[in-house]
Amino acid sequence: MYIQVTNNGTQFHLTNGRLSYIFHVMKNGQLGHLYYGKALRGREDFSRLQAYHVQTGNSTQLDDDSAFSIESFRQEIPSYGKGDFRSPAISLRMPDGSHVTNFVYKNYEIKEGKPSLPDLPAAYANNKDASTLQIRLVEKRLKLELVLNYTVFHDLPVITRSVSLDNRGLDRIFIERLMSASVDFPEKDFEMVHLAGAWARECHIKTRQLQSGIQSIGSARGASSHHYNPFLALKRFNTTEHTGEVYGFNLVYSGNFLAQAEIDHYDNTRILLGINPFRFEWRLEPDECFHSPEAVMVYSEEGMNGMSQAFHDLYREHLIPKHWQKEIRPILINNWEATYFDFNEEKLLAIAEKAKDVGIELFVLDDGWFGSRNDDTTSLGDWKVNKNKLPKGLKHLAEGVRLRGLKFGLWFEPEMISPKSNLYESHPEWAIKTPGEHPTLSRNQRVLDFTQDEVVQFIYEQMAQIIRETELSYIKWDMNRYITEAYSSGLEADCQDEFYHRYILGVYKLYDRLTKEFPSVLFESCAGGGGRVDPGLLYFAPQVWISDNTDAVERLKIQYGTSMVYPIYSMGSHVSAVPNHQTLRHTPLSMRGDVALFGTFGYELDPGELTAAEQKVIEGQIQKYKQHRALIRDGDFYRLINPFETNETAWMIVSKDKHEALIGFYQVRAMPNWRRQQNVRLAGLERDWEYVVDGQCFYGDELMTIGLPLPEEFNGVNGATAKRSGDYQSHIFYLQLKGKQN
Ligand code: GLA
Repeated sequence: MYIQVTNNGTQFHLTNGRLSYIFHVMKNGQLGHLYYGKALRGREDFSRLQAYHVQTGNSTQLDDDSAFSIESFRQEIPSYGKGDFRSPAISLRMPDGSHVTNFVYKNYEIKEGKPSLPDLPAAYANNKDASTLQIRLVEKRLKLELVLNYTVFHDLPVITRSVSLDNRGLDRIFIERLMSASVDFPEKDFEMVHLAGAWARECHIKTRQLQSGIQSIGSARGASSHHYNPFLALKRFNTTEHTGEVYGFNLVYSGNFLAQAEIDHYDNTRILLGINPFRFEWRLEPDECFHSPEAVMVYSEEGMNGMSQAFHDLYREHLIPKHWQKEIRPILINNWEATYFDFNEEKLLAIAEKAKDVGIELFVLDDGWFGSRNDDTTSLGDWKVNKNKLPKGLKHLAEGVRLRGLKFGLWFEPEMISPKSNLYESHPEWAIKTPGEHPTLSRNQRVLDFTQDEVVQFIYEQMAQIIRETELSYIKWDMNRYITEAYSSGLEADCQDEFYHRYILGVYKLYDRLTKEFPSVLFESCAGGGGRVDPGLLYFAPQVWISDNTDAVERLKIQYGTSMVYPIYSMGSHVSAVPNHQTLRHTPLSMRGDVALFGTFGYELDPGELTAAEQKVIEGQIQKYKQHRALIRDGDFYRLINPFETNETAWMIVSKDKHEALIGFYQVRAMPNWRRQQNVRLAGLERDWEYVVDGQCFYGDELMTIGLPLPEEFNGVNGATAKRSGDYQSHIFYLQLKGKQN
């Protein structure tokens, strides 16, 4: 029984043997939270878990019970105004200007599987994989109904939660906040982990001990952002990558979000996750319903890797488009760093031809193929071929690429408009702008008002036509600036704070339409690199260009951090030329390949400029990737050595049956004579099985306890035996169960 209802239908226990999540109907009819964590045996009554004693100074909500105070109780969907002074999960404004609400329990329903969320991306599951509990609460005075949706996955330590508000009254109301997840923990001793960064430095791991008061991350940029990912975890002080408890939270949403931890005066910790209440308000008319995005909650007893693996499994099996779950993603070459805006058909076909020779499968034409775009100052919105550069047209180019044996893909930036464009001349009103304000440019461009259906429709028509005409196999969907002067002429004055949410719903609408109509087109999302790395977009685009930074050393941190939540097979990872265009660093081709191997592989360089020796290396890299790509797609990923802490990085991916594994080891600076013998301690293997690696045999327990010996490093005198030397070293090990070798 994944959902246990006890105590005369007042207690709810979601469990799957890996976690328990328990709440109940309190004496005042509201929902109280009781427990979230390690799986507990079911019992009739858990209400003793509610702290129930008189506390000086507290408000009491029941006149005849001085111990009843929501100020000290943990709650399921806290609201403001009746004695709980912490940040609420729900806040409404009524027509008379009042804010107090009292949502009480009405009934529940259990459904096998998982209902979808209208207009929003969300995890999906069939009846055998998940069970859903829907709790209906009612605000009797205001005639509002609130539904809390909980899905517990049967084989994953995961619960998803979303909230819907239904206006059954006669008056319009305003939603000021409706958080997707709200969890109260009866303790404060946690570290908060989140991912922070900037353009070209995305997803760096940040950890800090929780302190009394509020600590939060979020975005008000119109996108989930390079700066903070919609992810937050609480871990115990002694939790490591491999052991200990951690609670992970991730929002399936690509717009403004808030993720917050608050320690109150009784040392309870409240987690809130949802749409950022800043610049958000939603007018809800009678008979309308508002749905919050979905929050994913993971509980792991197996450290940070356990948490990450649960996210990875959920996203691979229950979030990305079904079509792409098992489909092989092509190894691509993207012309951006090879040519930037300076190309013609001949140059592109020469790249495609060389790319084919080394085994690449898809050619992607990046920015500059449309309108009259020769730099980043013009033409966004004019999705028609740039006749000056490609006089024979896109179809001709696409056929030329296919003739050379590669698939063809294109870059779009659908949400943008250049002030210098035909689109702007005919529809200046489609560019977002606050009346009377000078519009702020970023990368010389403005943002289209995707809250308006006709704008989305217009862009859809242009894209669909090109997809058909060129028989596209792939689209890189970029988004290179954040939103300023947010305002829509299509919205009434008291609905302007709906702008950001409606904008992202418009983005989802276009994605939904295109992916449904063209299911075999592979979408890769991008936002100047990692400006929208979130599960909301993974639902449509199974891979994402996680950073414009292609430097192998920087990528170690970016990929390591991104793997905290997102599967490695969703991370676009390309080998580029040196000196690297973002850092001017020279790293060996071998290291660039060894880093990119742990992702969806590709190249971002001109193969015509490679020496014969480099071409050979690349051929080898491509063969290696093809050999291991099913493992990279389906295996369990483990972070082993942390680049934020040391000069080294190591990670590995192990097949689910534990028969094979691929290990990546990287050392940024040479460190001769640093240690007598260097080992990398592996994880995820079968202790008693014997494995073969580079001709040597080891038992799983040896590899996980002592480690895999690294090749000897040059130390000035051991030239005859040393196997590695210099800065920017890397080594890939492939390990197989003994007797299973090809
Ligand atoms: C963004 C992307 C790059 C490239 C350029 C093109 O910066 O992240 O990969 O596509 O736009 O203008």
